[in-house]
Amino acid sequence: MSDKKLWAGRFNQPTDAFVEAFTASVEFDQRLAEQDIRGSMAHATMLARQGIITGEEKDLILEGLEQIRRQIEAGEFPWSVALEDVHMNIESALTERIGDAGKKLHTGRSRNDQVATDVRLWLRDEIGAIDAELRRLQKALLDLAEREADTILPGFTHLQTAQPVTFGHHMMAWFEMLERDHGRLEDCRRRLNQCPLGAAALAGTSYPIDREFTARELGFDDPCRNSLDAVSDRDFAIEFTAAASILMMHLSRMSEELVIWSSAQFGFITLSDAFCTGSSIMPQKKNPDVPELVRGKSGRVFGHLMGLLTLMKSQPLAYNKDNQEDKEPLFDTVDNLKGCLKVFADMVPEIHCNAEAMRRAALQGFATATDLADYLVRKGIPFRDAHEVVGKAVALCVERGCDLADLSLEELRGFSEVIDADVFDALTLEGSVSARNHIGGTAPEQVRRAITTARGSLK
Ligand code: ARG
Repeated sequence: MSDKKLWAGRFNQPTDAFVEAFTASVEFDQRLAEQDIRGSMAHATMLARQGIITGEEKDLILEGLEQIRRQIEAGEFPWSVALEDVHMNIESALTERIGDAGKKLHTGRSRNDQVATDVRLWLRDEIGAIDAELRRLQKALLDLAEREADTILPGFTHLQTAQPVTFGHHMMAWFEMLERDHGRLEDCRRRLNQCPLGAAALAGTSYPIDREFTARELGFDDPCRNSLDAVSDRDFAIEFTAAASILMMHLSRMSEELVIWSSAQFGFITLSDAFCTGSSIMPQKKNPDVPELVRGKSGRVFGHLMGLLTLMKSQPLAYNKDNQEDKEPLFDTVDNLKGCLKVFADMVPEIHCNAEAMRRAALQGFATATDLADYLVRKGIPFRDAHEVVGKAVALCVERGCDLADLSLEELRGFSEVIDADVFDALTLEGSVSARNHIGGTAPEQVRRAITTARGSLK
């Protein structure tokens, strides 16, 4: 294939060898080849419909591009760094194949609207794939929540035992976090779905193009409304990376809990061997590598968000070569996010809950102290006074190293005489969770309701 530069007309000297490699993007942007070909096909079809090229020229272009597509898919395309990027590699190969008709493909177009179109098309496809993995994970959480709707563990604030909650409720909290992520991805996809083609280099083109046609042909909702903005805007990449960062932050929080819960000290859950690794020196170890790695990978995605914001922050209109730097962070974000979602969706159904260990932990740390206060309120004591009374009872238990439910009725009545034998119902874990029976509460009945509603929203 000829390495002749497509823009060499006004140059007298060849490009410096290092500069050629330094400015080239083909090593990474060849990933956009499929989208580049789709965009070129739509553009050529439009040029012929508008009488800008002939029908025969268009047919040659489409045929040639189809052959190149197959060659790329087969891994047989000779990518050339001298040809700088995916766009000029494909255009050169086309002209080599079909002759002069290939040279007409770039009529009324620039690499500036071309690359902006390619990246949008690519990201749109990837958002679809990411959302499919996200939905699979959400479905796995619903199944786990259903399985463990009655399982009780201590709920924490400040990582100190607070009140008993159900494991199903906890899983549904994760589900809600991911539901917002789904919304953000949808929103991002909707806003990116506008077509830059026709903006050309920056000002539009003097040919009688039909931007509505190319936009429709490529599945965009509309053409971008302003040519300067169309070629320079990378908001969609930033928005996506921001949504990806929040999603990764959620996965990282979940990971942290999985790591804590699977430790010998907590022992709340057992992760499947298939998602853990061992230690080369300590034979007893089974490490939660998968959640740890997901937690770690959140950092690089946040970094990409900061990188993209900084990339754009001082750019004057319209296109600048800086924009070539948008691709690697975006690609890396997509790859890592997709990987993390996949591994989570595969791992969650294999989580085993150790209900006994959760129960033991929930029985420590006075998780039902609030329930005792609520009991006193029901017997007519103002809440602040009840709080004080229970605080005193807790202090006694701490001194003795026992739980509230271990105190005798007589001892409890020593704190308040409104206390009767029915107090022990209030002090049970089951009583505590099932009492929180309102929308968003931790009662198993509410958890089951939330699961039913959520299943509806997943459809
Ligand atoms: N490889 C370039 C990029 O990714 C394509 C657009 C180049 N446009 C230009 N005027 N040099 O941004």
